[in-house]
Amino acid sequence: MKVKTGKPEDGKRMHVLETRAKAPGKVNLYLAVGNPREDGYHPLATLFSSVNIYETVTARDSQEPGITLSLDIVSESLVDQQHRAGEFDLAEVPLDESNLAHRAAVSMVQAHGLTVNDLNLHLHIDKAVPVAGGMAGGSADAAAALLAVDQYLYERRLTERTLGLEELLALAAPLGADVPFVVRAAFPLGGLAVGEGTGTELRIVELPEDMIPLDIVLVAASEGLSTPQVFSELDEGRVAGRYPEAGELQVPSGLLHALTQTEAPIARIHEIGRQLRNDLQGPAVTLAPDLETILTMDNESIVEAFVSGSGPTVAILVEDAPAADELAAALRRRGRHAIATQTPAML
Ligand code: C5P
Repeated sequence: MKVKTGKPEDGKRMHVLETRAKAPGKVNLYLAVGNPREDGYHPLATLFSSVNIYETVTARDSQEPGITLSLDIVSESLVDQQHRAGEFDLAEVPLDESNLAHRAAVSMVQAHGLTVNDLNLHLHIDKAVPVAGGMAGGSADAAAALLAVDQYLYERRLTERTLGLEELLALAAPLGADVPFVVRAAFPLGGLAVGEGTGTELRIVELPEDMIPLDIVLVAASEGLSTPQVFSELDEGRVAGRYPEAGELQVPSGLLHALTQTEAPIARIHEIGRQLRNDLQGPAVTLAPDLETILTMDNESIVEAFVSGSGPTVAILVEDAPAADELAAALRRRGRHAIATQTPAML
């Protein structure tokens, strides 16, 4: 939290309050999807793992009534790479009430018994996680907005307390299936969790203090994929026999064990690689066939390549950080948008 002092033109000193929060993107190290429920949502069993790439939301006093929004791209991020290639336009992101960060802010304001008309609040998003990439970029904006606005209302003395974690998670779930996990991952050691139900029922996987995060390379696509379309392709393809039928909705204990183990690091990474699964990968490849090129790329440092969530971002598991840096640089030289990072993010 930061308090800035500014000097308005009439010469009076004013205090501009500014609070800031960040929330990470994610990959799914396991994603088993069941058949759709009556409401269209799919029951699933997933292993969410935060990545060391963050969305930052700054909440500050503004001259404008209500809530306004602005957006910048984090330099050198995947979004920056997409932007420089002319594949991402800032204007694509709506800066009105439909933006998930705006909706998150409104629900936080209401949770404190206030209305938007009580405020002159500006939210600024620094964007690093791709839009429609299967990495919970929009969900991370919402999670960071919840936390920044909660703190802002408290520091502005519009409320007497900030919300507890359970209250935050209750506000997060209606905003989207990934938002509760990303809220949880904004806190220390909350970056690995089994998600059940539609993804909102979380069981945090305890991480040893000396946990060694996995080194991965994330490769963003030129165009996003619509999550509902990927789920529909899975449903239709299952009926037509293009994809295996829904299996057991359970994250294997062997995968959880390998992830939390700290011995035999190289054998452990290969064990993890063998147990990764994503039922949405086939449908994502059907809708974005270019993904196959990345997924089947031949490079000796690759342990396993997999689609993140509903895609189209591909995550490539490698043995160590130097291998990740080298592979990301090689991919960028070939015109791909790639970045080396770790998962889960150890805050
Ligand atoms: O919850 P969220 O808005 O992120 O979900 C986006 C879309 O993804 C939903 O509208 C739904 O079509 C699909 N989805 C699903 N089952 C889930 C999660 C998401 O079908 N468990």
